Amino acid sequence: MAKIKAGIIGAGIGTYHIEGYQAHGDAEVVALCDLNEEVLAQTAEEYEIEKTFTDYTAMLELDLDCVSVCVPNKFHAPITIDCLKAGKNVLCEKPLARNAKEGQKMVDAAEKAGKTLMIQFNNRFRPEARMLKGHVDAGTFGDIYFARCGWIRRNGIPGWGGWFTNQEVAGGGPLIDLAVHMLDLTMWLMGNPEPEICMASTYSVFGPQMEGLGPWGTPDPDGTFDVEDMAVGMLKFADGQTILLEASWAARIKREWVYSTICGTEAGASLERVFAVDGVDDSAIDTLELYTQEQGEPVDRVVKVEPDPAMGRHTAVKHFVDCLIDGVEPISPGTDGLRIMKILDAMYKSAEQGKAIRIK
Ligand SMILES: NC(=O)c1ccc[n+]([C@@H]2O[C@H](COP(=O)([O-])OP(=O)(O)OC[C@H]3O[C@@H](n4cnc5c(N)ncnc54)[C@H](O)[C@@H]3O)[C@@H](O)[C@H]2O)c1
Repeated sequence: MAKIKAGIIGAGIGTYHIEGYQAHGDAEVVALCDLNEEVLAQTAEEYEIEKTFTDYTAMLELDLDCVSVCVPNKFHAPITIDCLKAGKNVLCEKPLARNAKEGQKMVDAAEKAGKTLMIQFNNRFRPEARMLKGHVDAGTFGDIYFARCGWIRRNGIPGWGGWFTNQEVAGGGPLIDLAVHMLDLTMWLMGNPEPEICMASTYSVFGPQMEGLGPWGTPDPDGTFDVEDMAVGMLKFADGQTILLEASWAARIKREWVYSTICGTEAGASLERVFAVDGVDDSAIDTLELYTQEQGEPVDRVVKVEPDPAMGRHTAVKHFVDCLIDGVEPISPGTDGLRIMKILDAMYKSAEQGKAIRIK
């Protein structure tokens, strides 16, 4: 069988995609594209990628089965749509786009082209997330009616003045950057209920003062910080479920914490990643606990998980390749990314207007 031929656009987090394809026995990375010639040359050399491009449209002339789109959020929609029109399947980084309008165009383009569009919701592919989903599917929790989830950092603004802190390029702050992961994971665990209404607040306290930068990226004092540095919200679903959500890049809290806690009629669970020290390195402790009632007593069960330092990123790429080979729909199609964008749009609107917003 011929190997799946992949091209990568964007050599930042895109290196995880390269590693994912290269670890798959039935896939290979034949081309890499990045606007930054230095990054392009270095990455191509490190991963022994033969063909390099600074213009992705030239790369799309190659005979590729798929493309990973790993560029800043503003470019997800136009580049993904061009890839789909060129007949390539696409694995697009999160968030799907800057907003639902752009996301809808991507989903429509995939449908029109008859190609696969998968969103890189890699947190679903973390070992503990897959184990938790296994318990959900086995009925361990009964009906899940409430969840609390978030990704909060004490000192972790990804650069200052770079693209992450620029509304025009990123589409928002930690809500669209970090919370998107845990909201998706939590909704997936809950069986993707139909979102109905939201109430949210956003704050920008430390970003404008260039505080709470942490080690993510190089600050650019000439750049802009016009996104939130914290967001909180409550979502209500058509069948009565509720999710509380929080996200921050900078806040006076103990440390970075990534979590999803679900409460069901039979049992509950908490999946957590607690970082040792904010931003010093990636050393974190991943845990999965189940909360049950046995013999009339409350019982905590600790599930033994082998942590994945790549946080499921390689496994997600493997899944994408497997789906292309088997001709099946991925577990995180573009439509799931679009559902999340509609919620985030409504949350930003709610924060701006100071009232509850119906999610459409
Ligand atoms: N899934 C995850 O865990 C995860 C982690 C980090 C970032 N991301 C997402 O990945 C995307 C990229 O983030 P990043 O951290 O790698 O950013 P980055 O700025 O570190 O890297 C982006 C790269 O894309 C290149 N680029 C920009 N525009 C381009 C274009 N038009 N054509 C070709 N190359 C272009 C840049 O030169 C840069 O090298 C974002 O959407 C981000 O939200 C996902």
